[in-house]
Amino acid sequence: VGSSGRSAGEAGPEGAGPEGAESRRPWCCGPRTSELLCAWLPRPPGSGCGCCLDCRWRWQPCSAGWCAGDVTAQVALQPALRFNGGGHINHTIFWTNLSPNGGGEPKGELMEAIKRDFGSFEKFKEKLTAVSVGVQGSGWGWLGFNKEQGRLKIASCSNQDPLQGTTGLIPLLGIDVWEHAYYLQYKNVRPDYLKAIWNVINWENVSERYSACKK
Ligand SMILES: [Fe+2]
Repeated sequence: VGSSGRSAGEAGPEGAGPEGAESRRPWCCGPRTSELLCAWLPRPPGSGCGCCLDCRWRWQPCSAGWCAGDVTAQVALQPALRFNGGGHINHTIFWTNLSPNGGGEPKGELMEAIKRDFGSFEKFKEKLTAVSVGVQGSGWGWLGFNKEQGRLKIASCSNQDPLQGTTGLIPLLGIDVWEHAYYLQYKNVRPDYLKAIWNVINWENVSERYSACKK
């Protein structure tokens, strides 16, 4: 998501995006989604917009109670931390899990682990798709790693709950199933979005995350 240079509330032109981006994008989240997010988020006067989700949190002013070590204030902020902090963690992972040149199948030890823990790559895809489609309301579907068991696991989280903070699983691949992730291209048909997202999964990134969390 690049800098839009527009003021708050001003939406970009339909279909606008990096030159040639549309032709490389056989999938999923068109540039329009990013444009809308960027225009929709409130921003203080004069602030830039390097990344929608980045600036969304960077703009939050420091709470006096929080900074002063006020434990009651810190406890009161936990729901906001869970939601906004979780959203930041989830989307930061999500962006790197995707690539316009993605798709296909993983290789090497990640593929071996998928076959070991789910039977086959197809069975894994079916299971993660079913779990993600089945999230009630807004949330995320995940492939995570249980370090104690040394096993891959599929899980879902509600809202913006972060996978590791909620389940202990180390996140490898997250699928955003908030309606904002797909409604511009797929309306309310979440299963169609889940079918298409496999075309843009960056398996190199997922494999790197798997290798890193095994160390
Ligand atoms: Fe999202």
